[in-house]
Amino acid sequence: MSDSSTHDWAHHYAGRTRGMQASEIRELLKVLEDPAIISFAGGIPDPTLFPTAEISAAYAAALSNPEKSSGALQYSVSEGYGPLRDWIVGYMGTRGIACTRDNVMIVTGSQQGLDLLGKLFIGGGDTVLVERPTYMGALQAFGPCEPNYDDLLPGSNATAASLSERAKSRGGRVAAAYCVPDFANPTGVSMTTAGREKLLDLCAELDVPLFEDAAYEALRYDGPAYPSCLELDIRRTGGIDASRVLYCGTFSKTISPGLRVGWVCGAKDPIRKLVLAKQAGDLHSATINQMVIHDVVGRCYDSQVAKVRDAYRIKRDAMLAALDRHMPKGTEWTKPDGGMFVWVTLAAGRDAGALLPVAIKREQVAYVPGRAFHATGGGENTLRLNFSMPTVERIEAGIARLGKLFA
Ligand SMILES: Cc1ncc(COP(=O)(O)O)c(C=O)c1O
Repeated sequence: MSDSSTHDWAHHYAGRTRGMQASEIRELLKVLEDPAIISFAGGIPDPTLFPTAEISAAYAAALSNPEKSSGALQYSVSEGYGPLRDWIVGYMGTRGIACTRDNVMIVTGSQQGLDLLGKLFIGGGDTVLVERPTYMGALQAFGPCEPNYDDLLPGSNATAASLSERAKSRGGRVAAAYCVPDFANPTGVSMTTAGREKLLDLCAELDVPLFEDAAYEALRYDGPAYPSCLELDIRRTGGIDASRVLYCGTFSKTISPGLRVGWVCGAKDPIRKLVLAKQAGDLHSATINQMVIHDVVGRCYDSQVAKVRDAYRIKRDAMLAALDRHMPKGTEWTKPDGGMFVWVTLAAGRDAGALLPVAIKREQVAYVPGRAFHATGGGENTLRLNFSMPTVERIEAGIARLGKLFA
């Protein structure tokens, strides 16, 4: 609706903006600024764990003399700060991934990596294979490419042939697969090695790239790590430049999300193209932030990750124990070995979206209804709970109130 004092913009927007809608849930969740509300809705790190002293020292060092500050405050190359890319090469090496600086580019948060991957690979009408449920931010990043979605293994028994056929009938091709194999947002669940191998088989049969979103990979609280899809594919193909996996990493969950520094690691050819796409978007990620991250990871990466893991393990345990104590019969939930989320499935017929306004107003507790994480529909009786942000005391109190509501 327009009146004489506001221009009507709707008809100016390009067709690709159709999917860009503010969600009702985000509107509802604006009330979360009220400290009386116990929020399990965020997906954000506990700020008391940020290495603030180290970050502060790193900024001071970057600005400590004219030679350093002139670099830190200047434009820089789109590929990213060389010493940080070298550190990432070393880090990927510890994860079984042999690569060089040319296989790594810095991005403004791994979210930008997803956006650039969409631009590079997804044409209008193409199909992207995603888990059900999947990370909402990936759907937002791919949305302007106007894709269709289909379900990814292991949840679906579709074959490469049936997926190709369906993509063709919708006027495109299967363009890519996207997954969060470790402690997924929103479920907290990890893919087994066998599941990852099956996924790589499918991508090989379809001959499509696999976008591996490793946002939570470092946040493991129990058990041994699974090999990444990139590592498994390198074992199959003989080297990173022969691999079809493009791995998105981030410092957001371990160091700080506010600095907006992440990376994409993969074969040189698509990395070069991604750099061109990034150049068009923002020229480069903030020079000083890349230098600061490099300084901080050099000072304390391992101890920082250990600190974060220890703190979140306690919160994860508190949430699982509270769910055991308070959830009514017929409710199920995941038991993640890491990450930030527990995924709850209410008894069939319950609608987590319809219950949210009551949860907020009456119980003063917030969560994210699961429906929004389902690209191809479903999930009405599911919801996502975050345990990284609330304190142990608020986890216990909030889950008790939710248990009462769901009963
Ligand atoms: C699965 C997943 N991928 C990517 C991101 C984006 O993280 P960042 O852009 O801060 O690296 C997030 C953030 O919540 C996430 O949950």
